[in-house]
Amino acid sequence: MEKVDHIGIAVKSIEASLPFYTEMLALTLIKKETVENQGVAVAFIDAGNVKLELLEPLNDLSPIAKFIEKKGEGIHHIAFKVEGIDQRLNDLKEKGIRFISDQPKPGAGGAAVAFMHPTQAHGVLYEICDHSSIKGAAGNE
Ligand code: CO
Repeated sequence: MEKVDHIGIAVKSIEASLPFYTEMLALTLIKKETVENQGVAVAFIDAGNVKLELLEPLNDLSPIAKFIEKKGEGIHHIAFKVEGIDQRLNDLKEKGIRFISDQPKPGAGGAAVAFMHPTQAHGVLYEICDHSSIKGAAGNE
């Protein structure tokens, strides 16, 4: 892995938590969006060398809703930036790393994302995300 792209943080409400970041910590909101296939509303915050991804569940079936129910609000995952996610996924699988889904899925910002199985990663949920395949995007989003 080369660098961390973002840290995912589960929140009950983006509206309620955003002022902590933008007003108290004086960080900048990059964008908000909805990722229907993952059942979340997302807000990306610029934290300089890394982004923070606030994740609010859209409904009770969202994995984020289940996470908050079990553990409360807090750090949910760490995402590594990759290019050529299909190849990287295969390389990691060949090393014996298991993923929650076998194929990359569309994530926030049109990135392709895949999550590693947290039990094998010593309790941390790691995502790999690839922004390079986004149509019309020039490098970083
Ligand atoms: Co993420």
